Amino acid sequence: MGTTVLFKPTVIQRKALALLKSGAKHILLFGGSRSGKTTVLVMAIIFRALRYAGSRHLICRYRAKDARSSVLRETLLPWLDNTVGKSGYRYHVHESVVTLFNGSEIWIGGLGDREQADKILGHEYNTIYFNEISQLSYVAVTTAYSRLAMRIQGCRNLFYYDCNPGSPLHWAYKIFVLKRTFLSGEPLEKAELYTSMLLNPEDNRENLPEDYISDILDVLPEKQKARFRDGLWVKAEGVIYDRFDESMIVKAADLPEQFDRYAAGQDFGLNITFVKIGWVGDVIYVLGDYGAFNMTTQSFNDELSARGLLDCPDEMGMPVYCDPAGGERIQEIRGGTKANNSVESGIDFINAKIERGQFFVCEKCTGVLSEIWDYCRDEAGQIVKLNDHFLDALRYAIFSDVQQGVVFQ
Ligand SMILES: Nc1ncnc2c1ncn2[C@@H]1O[C@H](COP(=O)(O)OP(=O)(O)O)[C@@H](O)[C@H]1O
Ligand SMILES: [Mg+2]
Repeated sequence: MGTTVLFKPTVIQRKALALLKSGAKHILLFGGSRSGKTTVLVMAIIFRALRYAGSRHLICRYRAKDARSSVLRETLLPWLDNTVGKSGYRYHVHESVVTLFNGSEIWIGGLGDREQADKILGHEYNTIYFNEISQLSYVAVTTAYSRLAMRIQGCRNLFYYDCNPGSPLHWAYKIFVLKRTFLSGEPLEKAELYTSMLLNPEDNRENLPEDYISDILDVLPEKQKARFRDGLWVKAEGVIYDRFDESMIVKAADLPEQFDRYAAGQDFGLNITFVKIGWVGDVIYVLGDYGAFNMTTQSFNDELSARGLLDCPDEMGMPVYCDPAGGERIQEIRGGTKANNSVESGIDFINAKIERGQFFVCEKCTGVLSEIWDYCRDEAGQIVKLNDHFLDALRYAIFSDVQQGVVFQ
């Protein structure tokens, strides 16, 4: 066996460990990059797995591949080597699970693809750790909630979360920082169950390369510096709908009473989403949205009906413009028809509406709002395909309608 390095928490990691024992059930560590968030949460899981023989724990993020490279290989396996030693555990590559000598299990997986999600959500756990939740949708996370159901004597089941901050419209900001429910915006009923803490790279200086903060973080563009060095919840760099601002969010009571016409957009996939809009002249109002995780198209359509989202005043009818890749699923959506999927032109059109003050979003549209400031391009100008589920549906709703020639005849 190689030399072992004892885990010596930083001052802030010590506080984080205390927070994990504070009585809260949902604990978020957020902050800049390389501040020791993942390390301390992984250590906490190792401690729990050792302490409670036969317990089961899940570490998941959006992509299984990222969970395996950044959490499993860079953090979990090295620290297991340091604590229980190589002979004290086995990593089963095929199932992506680590089994410890005492019968405890630590599963690693992704919530972003169906097969993976079904596999990891087929078990019950004592801890579920959502890694880098800025990339996870609210419904994906809450779908996993029911799996925190393993019973082990003396072990309190817990949810851990970590992330680099997203936009201040992100669901995690609303829940953990504003202490409001994500969907209704009401104050959290049991606020004491939710707690969070900020950890920044400065707090982890002793474990970072000498020049990491000064040469890498200090020289980032402003918004990235705010997120990755200072751990602030700000709009991302390269945000596609950058000109959207909070003055364009309207209360349900302040919406127009009548609309000239309605349209909706529908995206398929593991994150299945729907967005409804209404037009008054040239002005677009985003009126409602709904999203689910791992739901069949038929059940989703039933949900839309039950929620009244497919209703509109007499005779008016509402086309539901669907992801053209949806194939036969399009027929399962009432009013479903193929959407126009010109991504760049659609984005340009929506941006022009935003700039002219002809675009409003009802406060109830939590899906659209939570993604709108995180939908961005990478440095090469490519759209980042994360957190785009509602925004694709929004674009189908708006731009297909325009392309049908309904608007500019
Ligand atoms: N207590 C610790 N002892 C030794 N190294 C640590 C400790 N905490 C963090 N590190 C190291 O600091 C770096 C960043 O930690 P990490 O947990 O990945 O940060 P974050 O998840 O906040 O980005 C990693 O190289 C990690 O191994
Ligand atoms: Mg991390």
